[in-house]
Amino acid sequence: MTDIPPTLTPNDAVGLPARAAALDLLIAALGGRAGMDEGLSHPALAALPARDRAFARALVMATLRYLGPIDSALQAKVKKAPPDKVVQILRLGVAQVFVLKTPPHAAVTTSVDLVAQDKGLAMFKGLVNAVLRGLIREPPEMDDPELMAPSWLYARWRAAFGAEAARGIAAAIAQEPATDLSLKDAARAAGLATALEATVLPGGSLRTTKRGDLATWPEFAEGAWWVQDAAAAIPARLLDVRAGQTALDMCAAPGGKTLQLAAAGAQVTAVDRAPARLKRVAENLARTGLTAETVTSDAAIWNDRRTFDAVLLDAPCSATGTFRRHPDVLWAAKPSDVAGLAAVQSKLLDAAARRTKAGGRLVYCVCSLEPEEGEGQVAAFLGRTPEMSLDPIGAGEGGTPKASVRPDGTLRILPQHMDGGMDGFYVARFRKG
Ligand SMILES: C[S@@+](CC[C@H](N)C(=O)[O-])C[C@H]1O[C@@H](n2cnc3c(N)ncnc32)[C@H](O)[C@@H]1O
Repeated sequence: MTDIPPTLTPNDAVGLPARAAALDLLIAALGGRAGMDEGLSHPALAALPARDRAFARALVMATLRYLGPIDSALQAKVKKAPPDKVVQILRLGVAQVFVLKTPPHAAVTTSVDLVAQDKGLAMFKGLVNAVLRGLIREPPEMDDPELMAPSWLYARWRAAFGAEAARGIAAAIAQEPATDLSLKDAARAAGLATALEATVLPGGSLRTTKRGDLATWPEFAEGAWWVQDAAAAIPARLLDVRAGQTALDMCAAPGGKTLQLAAAGAQVTAVDRAPARLKRVAENLARTGLTAETVTSDAAIWNDRRTFDAVLLDAPCSATGTFRRHPDVLWAAKPSDVAGLAAVQSKLLDAAARRTKAGGRLVYCVCSLEPEEGEGQVAAFLGRTPEMSLDPIGAGEGGTPKASVRPDGTLRILPQHMDGGMDGFYVARFRKG
């Protein structure tokens, strides 16, 4: 389930530095808006030997995946909340014992040592020792689906998709995902699948359980593939662009969908308002040898008169569908974010409609599980944009799982719709005129 290296001895001499790095990483992941991405570039992690780095990363991911059950267990034992750093040390301790199955004495000793490293917290050594030992004596419930996500989110999923689907989403939070790759040349799928120890998924993505530094994998440097979740690869395929057609990717960075459109032969314009993120699009284009025009602008007010055969709007969203690789998003999201983002999405949808040529196609997607960002957007958009109509998506199209197709031909992709999981997405396709 986790990528903890089998050779690791959790209580060996290097155990404490790995756990100290995990503590820094956890604090960064839960503190910053960039979450886990920010945490993974933390210097404390880079300074560790590869084996310890893998342990620290596995420990933080285990803690974030099981944060709900861990906090519920701690709340039952800790009457008065200790300082935040002690809470994080306790969370890591519980994750070691009950998720990674680290020998309990190693988890307790290193947790107490972590507290002792901070002179200002030394008085909490006894508390950490007592709480962890108490939980080891009376193991907590770690598999209650309703504890896997914040209760407000779980309640929303149950209301929107039903009790069984909400349990399925929660079960996916616990699973370590495989890595999905999109190919520059679909005709090379069989050969690349062998080289990358992968299987070919219905839409043509590859799925590999390989781990470690991607840059060392076959044909990374040559740009034959890029990392893209199987669900994230569906929207661009649904535009079905042909060589020579023009395509606009309105929120393009880091560029997975731009690369797909360019690989299909379209003349692509990639817009993103964040210059640093757009730089990553340029890097990905350079590595894969694909071309696209890149534009730094707010796509809602982009000062350009062109219209396009195909328009893709992968709008900024709460990203609650990406929890398989970013479990921190579930705990960073706030109910008020959803309403704010829905307003931005609706402005961007209006701009996307203006950019679509008569007879052209527009695909709208969000990596969110929240209906206001998906189903709700579409009903309102159609109501105020009579020149656009829904272009229903069929099961199998672009790798669409049958279970994801709604009666109106839009897609509500849930993580459990594919064996081994996929990110949560909402996708709708429109035609102009
Ligand atoms: C979900 S991500 C896009 C992922 C990308 N389509 C891919 O497949 O790699 C959303 C992007 O929208 C950008 N963004 C947010 N608001 C925007 C706006 N008003 N105009 C243009 N880009 C925007 C963000 O900088 C971010 O890169």
